[in-house]
Amino acid sequence: MIRRQYQKLMALFYDPFMDSLEKELIKHRRFLIGKIDKGPVLEVGAGTGVNFDLYPDHLEIYAIEPSMPMYKKALKKAKNKPNIHLFNIGLEEVSGHPEIPESFQYILSTLVLCTIKDPEKGAARYHHLLKNDGKLLVLEHIHSGENFYGKLQKLVNPVWKPIADGCNLTRRQDEILKNNGFEAIDEKYFKLGTDWYRAIMKK
Ligand SMILES: C[S@@+](CC[C@H](N)C(=O)[O-])C[C@H]1O[C@@H](n2cnc3c(N)ncnc32)[C@H](O)[C@@H]1O
Repeated sequence: MIRRQYQKLMALFYDPFMDSLEKELIKHRRFLIGKIDKGPVLEVGAGTGVNFDLYPDHLEIYAIEPSMPMYKKALKKAKNKPNIHLFNIGLEEVSGHPEIPESFQYILSTLVLCTIKDPEKGAARYHHLLKNDGKLLVLEHIHSGENFYGKLQKLVNPVWKPIADGCNLTRRQDEILKNNGFEAIDEKYFKLGTDWYRAIMKK
């Protein structure tokens, strides 16, 4: 019940909250989506559908979003985009879903592994769902380490996490993916308020 209220707030304020960051983030979203040359594509945790306008029309996109308030927002952005197939499900429900392919040429994961409950299992699911010659496209904010800012993130995380619907400020998604069978073929660490990681990865 309370979780649902936080999800509603998150869906309401996500786009305005992200607005100032998006001026920079959009370049990284465009970079990753620009690498996609064929489908099928799985977009995990599509949120409000912030990536939908960036896909070319010829690509078949299977987008999943488990939070109903976020899903409803994404549904509006997917309107008039017949190549975007949006499902109100989590990553755990993709395998075996009758309307979703068994494997994908690309998986796009932007700002998702910070939120997924068990990121190790999430990474293993990405591995399972990606074709052998497929690519994982990742954009994530990551923990800043043992500097002042990183210590502050650890301090703030218990308060931040419930407000931001499970988002963690203390994860190293780059390490989690590398420890779970992925290798970066192109990676970039950058600062935008906090520390960020962008990568194209293969199995
Ligand atoms: C911070 S938002 C990111 C939204 C969007 N991908 C973006 O780039 O702005 C994280 C999203 O991941 C979703 N999420 C959380 N757990 C998930 C899971 N197990 N499977 C799929 N998506 C999940 C949340 O509902 C939320 O919409």
